[in-house]
Amino acid sequence: MHENTMDCLTREAVLAALPPAHPWQDRIFCPGVVDSTNTRAKQLAASGAPHGTVVIAGAQTAGRGRLGRSFHSPEGKGVYLSVILRPGCSPAQLMHLTCAVGTAMCGGVEALSGFRPGIKWINDLVCGGKKLGGILTELGLDPRTGQVSYAVVGIGINCRHEALDFPPELREKATSLFLETGTLFDRSHLAAAMVTALSEMDAQLLPQKEALMARYRRDCVTIGQRVRVLGSGAPRPAEALDVDGSGGLVVRYDDGQIQTVTSGEVSVRGMDGYV
Ligand code: BTN
Repeated sequence: MHENTMDCLTREAVLAALPPAHPWQDRIFCPGVVDSTNTRAKQLAASGAPHGTVVIAGAQTAGRGRLGRSFHSPEGKGVYLSVILRPGCSPAQLMHLTCAVGTAMCGGVEALSGFRPGIKWINDLVCGGKKLGGILTELGLDPRTGQVSYAVVGIGINCRHEALDFPPELREKATSLFLETGTLFDRSHLAAAMVTALSEMDAQLLPQKEALMARYRRDCVTIGQRVRVLGSGAPRPAEALDVDGSGGLVVRYDDGQIQTVTSGEVSVRGMDGYV
């Protein structure tokens, strides 16, 4: 056990770990425990919070994942962070947002720890066949123009978990930075690395979309793998060939049919396990 190495995830600690004069430093909130940082960020966005507003929690009571799943968010273990972006564009121009954030988070984790996770299409940070974290993107549209009013991107990264900190059903599927590296990283340092990587990604999001997607393809461990495509019908075995510019996964089914599947429709599993 590691009782002597407590960290603290306060606003002061995150600001101290950020580079000086970070452009988002006046809009970082650390409310402690929340239901979901995405829910909190969406409330802030609806009441006019600016681009770059960041909500960082030390625990979530109702952390959410993609496709209605929950995200295990125990106190003192992970970083649960959501950012409000107002890119001023159409939803079609943001199809790559989750991918861009994924590869940015690989960079953030690498900058902190020296260790670069992979990405399981489309939104899971993975290591050694296990899930290190996940990303949940939610858009709010302006009903008059159809443009994106805000995007809330939420990221959870397992940082200080030991195996027994995960519930039994997750132990075979989930990992943490501590379990992978043997180092108990300070969560405020991880949060600062995430914010830094997010603001760098934000500057490239629209002007350098192809470069971000090229980086995503390098990080994505699903490409080249045998997968099972889980949609509404029976799981279909396939080979994952590529990720297109909008984040769709190009697969070849065993009958030779090639299809691009989207993250709203399907999820994928490896043939033998989670990744
Ligand atoms: C997934 O596993 O499908 C995505 C998980 C995303 C979890 C993060 S934690 C911070 C933010 N708040 C949430 O409720 N979800 C995201």
